[in-house]
Amino acid sequence: MKAITAAIKGVSGYVPDYVLTNAELETMVDTNDEWIVSRTGIKERRILKGEGKGTSDLATPCVIDLLKKTKLKPEDIDLLIVATVTGDHVFPATATIVCDKVGIKNALSFDINAACSGFLFALGTASQFIETGKYKNVIVVGADKMSAITNYEDRATCIIFGDGAGAVLLQPDTEGYGVKDSIMRSDGVGRNFLYQTAGGSVKPPTLETVKNREHYAYQDGKTVFKYAVTKMADVAAEIMEDNDLSSDDVAWLVPHQANLRIIDATGRRMGIDPNKVMINIEKYGNTTSGTIPLCLWEWEKKLKKGDNIILAAFGGGFTWGSVYIKWAYDS
Ligand code: UT7
Repeated sequence: MKAITAAIKGVSGYVPDYVLTNAELETMVDTNDEWIVSRTGIKERRILKGEGKGTSDLATPCVIDLLKKTKLKPEDIDLLIVATVTGDHVFPATATIVCDKVGIKNALSFDINAACSGFLFALGTASQFIETGKYKNVIVVGADKMSAITNYEDRATCIIFGDGAGAVLLQPDTEGYGVKDSIMRSDGVGRNFLYQTAGGSVKPPTLETVKNREHYAYQDGKTVFKYAVTKMADVAAEIMEDNDLSSDDVAWLVPHQANLRIIDATGRRMGIDPNKVMINIEKYGNTTSGTIPLCLWEWEKKLKKGDNIILAAFGGGFTWGSVYIKWAYDS
């Protein structure tokens, strides 16, 4: 019997309409367009406006669009995973809320919290469900409403994050297409450098925690940068080596979009042509779990059956990893 791999058979993305530009941020904190662009590569990001709207409102349109594109019905889906750090609620899982909004009943669904590596971890996990032969139609969503945990008085973080979501459909393949390999790693040392102080069980919300602005993402940018720039580049190079891929063999690098300088360093370490690196950080900033599927969505029409694609991510935890995919279809 031929081995089953998990092939991506469709991609979708969703970003909200509101555009938060560097010019608008200049009116909110002491920053400027030149600093933001030269230090991060970001020009603008999208923000989900509207009371009562959460991450499921980014994820749901993605899933609806994906079902339409792939001509599947909600009842065909047997597993849906949402990667997010900004779930609608502490519980229940946002995946269950998305299923309810889309009409997916009785499927296995759960969230994965691995910060900026969330989509990559969810994809690596989902592919193993497919490989068992038991799961046939699996949706992996990466979605974050980062504006919900961003302190718009902190210039070190508010210029970075944006809201957005992307999703892929995985189906079994026996021709050798799909997820060929994955490396997923973590190191809890990162909990000291990128975190949200309050709102969890250690420090439940109080008037004090709200007053002290402890419900926002805090980042020691310099330290995170140092780890990110080496770990993301190393793990991408490692997966190439493990799979005997030269830089010429790689059609695309799909990096997590945290900082253009980290993306460039990863591309250089892999020795790949900058034209083969997907970059849209200038439009969306860092959407955490959303960055990688949003790239795949925007580049989908350029992808060809058989393309070797390397995904790479680094994020809070710390978490990091790489996935090697042989693309399964021509758009
Ligand atoms: O996605 C998950 C993982 N996250 C990452 O991978 C992000 C990693 N870190 C980074 O991308 C970068 O560290 C940042 C973009 C967050 C910051 O860039 P940096 O080059 O590391 O800046 P810095 O924090 O070292 O700050 C340099 C200077 C400081 O001023 P002094 O102390 O040198 O006078 C900051 O106060 O820039 C100042 N600064 C700003 N200036 C204008 C910090 N933020 C701003 C700002 N506008 N928004």
